[in-house]
Amino acid sequence: MNFLVINTDSPKQTEELGQKLGKLLEPADVVCLIGELGAGKTAFTRGLGQGWGTTARVTSPTFTLINEYARPNDGRILFHLDCYRLTNDDDVETIGLEDILAADGAVVIEWPQVASGWLPDDRLSIEIEHVDEETRAFKFSGSGERSKWLVNQVSES
Ligand SMILES: Nc1ncnc2c1ncn2[C@@H]1O[C@H](COP(=O)(O)OP(=O)(O)OP(=O)(O)O)[C@@H](O)[C@H]1O
Ligand SMILES: [Mg+2]
Repeated sequence: MNFLVINTDSPKQTEELGQKLGKLLEPADVVCLIGELGAGKTAFTRGLGQGWGTTARVTSPTFTLINEYARPNDGRILFHLDCYRLTNDDDVETIGLEDILAADGAVVIEWPQVASGWLPDDRLSIEIEHVDEETRAFKFSGSGERSKWLVNQVSES
C-alpha cells in the first residue's frame, strides 16, 4: 500500500497516530510533514517521539530549527527539523541537512518543500489537512519500498 488517509479528532488522537509511526521508525527513515500553520505537524511529532522512545517532550523546532532526541535503548537519534524559515539551498546547507541525512538517525521535517532536492527518493510524506477546528486528515504516501512498508504497517496497526 502506498496511500492511506486517517482522520484524528483531537490533538491526543494525533499524538497517538504519531506514536504508532514512531514505534516503526528506524535510522535512515525520512518523514516529511506537509501542512499549513497549526495543522498538527508538531503535535504529530510529539507522539512520534514517544513511539521512538525518547523520554523528553518534543517541542517545536521553530526557533532552534533542529531538535535531537536520542532513544535510550540504542542511543539512536530522532532529528526534528523545521524548515519554515529557510528560503533557498544556501539556507539548507547552512543548517547541515546533508550531515543529518548521513548520520545514523531518523529524520522528521516540517515544511520540507525547500529541502526536497536533498531528500532521499524513498521517503514517507504526510499531508495534514485542517478539516475543522478539531479534525485533521493525515494523508500518508510512500515513495519507495521502505516508506510504502511503513504506510502499510501504520494502516494495519
Ligand atoms: N486533531 C488535531 N490534531 C492536532 N492538533 C490539533 C487537532 N485539533 C486541534 N489541534 C490544535 O492545532 C494546533 C496544532 O499545532 P502544531 O504546533 O502541532 O501545528 P504545526 O503544524 O506544527 O504548526 P507550525 O507550522 O506553526 O509549526 C494545536 O494548537 C492543537 O491544539
Ligand atoms: Mg510545528
